[in-house]
Amino acid sequence: MPDLPRIGQPAVLDPRLRPISIRSRRVRIRGDLKSLEMLSIMRRAKISVIGAGNVGATCAHWAAAKELGDVVLLDIPDKEGVAKGKALDLACCGPMERFDANVHGTADYADTAGSDVVIVTAGLPRKPGMSRDDLIGTNVKIVRSVTEQVAKHSPDSIMILVSNPLDAMVYTAWKSSGFPTKQIVGQAGCLDVARYRGFLAMKLGCSVEDISALLLGGHGDDMVPLPRYTSVHGIPVSQLLSEAEITECVDRAKVGGGEIVKLMGTSAYYAPASGSVQMAEAIIKDKKRILPCAAYCDSEYGVGGYFVGVPCILGSAGVEKVIEIDLDETERALMDESISHVKDLVGTVTEMFPDLA
Ligand SMILES: NC(=O)c1ccc[n+]([C@@H]2O[C@H](COP(=O)([O-])OP(=O)(O)OC[C@H]3O[C@@H](n4cnc5c(N)ncnc54)[C@H](O)[C@@H]3O)[C@@H](O)[C@H]2O)c1
Repeated sequence: MPDLPRIGQPAVLDPRLRPISIRSRRVRIRGDLKSLEMLSIMRRAKISVIGAGNVGATCAHWAAAKELGDVVLLDIPDKEGVAKGKALDLACCGPMERFDANVHGTADYADTAGSDVVIVTAGLPRKPGMSRDDLIGTNVKIVRSVTEQVAKHSPDSIMILVSNPLDAMVYTAWKSSGFPTKQIVGQAGCLDVARYRGFLAMKLGCSVEDISALLLGGHGDDMVPLPRYTSVHGIPVSQLLSEAEITECVDRAKVGGGEIVKLMGTSAYYAPASGSVQMAEAIIKDKKRILPCAAYCDSEYGVGGYFVGVPCILGSAGVEKVIEIDLDETERALMDESISHVKDLVGTVTEMFPDLA
């Protein structure tokens, strides 16, 4: 049996055939390449998670539990034992949780080679009293070194950034990897909108599944709430809750991260990891899900070439489309404020690290 082609890699089984590129395991391959289709379906996806701390290990957990593919969990050499130990512990859940996935811990980027999705969680988390922006100097250095390695070993991967401050880290990853913008995306909106939906469901006493909502803008305090685009099984939320009650849920979602930092002394990880793996799933299964993510916008929303939180279609090519929605005057003003904070953050990055400009 010939070696299996990696997703995204040009593949030729027979020198007489034209090379083709497989980006998705769901790709349709015609005619005499039918055998290749069968081979490509047989290959498991590969997800690498960089940083085996709270968020990273929990990403590995959700990814394995959802049987998204084989998982590589990488940390620095000093923490290689932790990465290996967590990976082995997680692998041992397979028989009970009924997933088949290789889960491998490592400090060697060679083990991540050919990943389809790489989730970057490496970096310091917040401690009580810190803002996300306080992490910038240290985490830019970490994310820069990580994403250079990712680009070298998995040039066709889609990179999901999680490290904070998120908008600055997405920019750093883009500059240091040299990846096309659609291969880079940041996780913040999935978490923020999940918190918002969760708090609305608590207030209404209904299932979280019935709340459909949308947010724009940056992470946490910078989010742009959109009650106009929030519904409960199709019913506009404004028909079920007062403005004050909706604002209460929005405000709690905005500071939801800080509330958890105060309680635990470190930042949240179950829900951030869940949001990251929701994005990984959309990419690996080519689901074309519409999710709020930090994506590159140029003319969209008048952003002018920055990564900001917007609804986008996530599929096997990464960010396949940014969706623009109508904003009223208040929403537009909040979005502009959020965009200007992203610009300030990127300005700080380029001042501290001029080679990233
Ligand atoms: N975007 C979000 O929604 C969101 C939510 C929560 C946390 N975060 C951020 O995610 C990051 C991780 O948080 P955490 O709680 O998992 O922290 P953590 O301290 O538990 O884990 C971070 C891990 O990164 C590793 N690391 C550091 N430098 C590295 C390098 N160069 N290469 C590989 N690994 C390296 C550390 O050894 C550690 O194991 C933080 O920056 C945090 O602020 C983001």
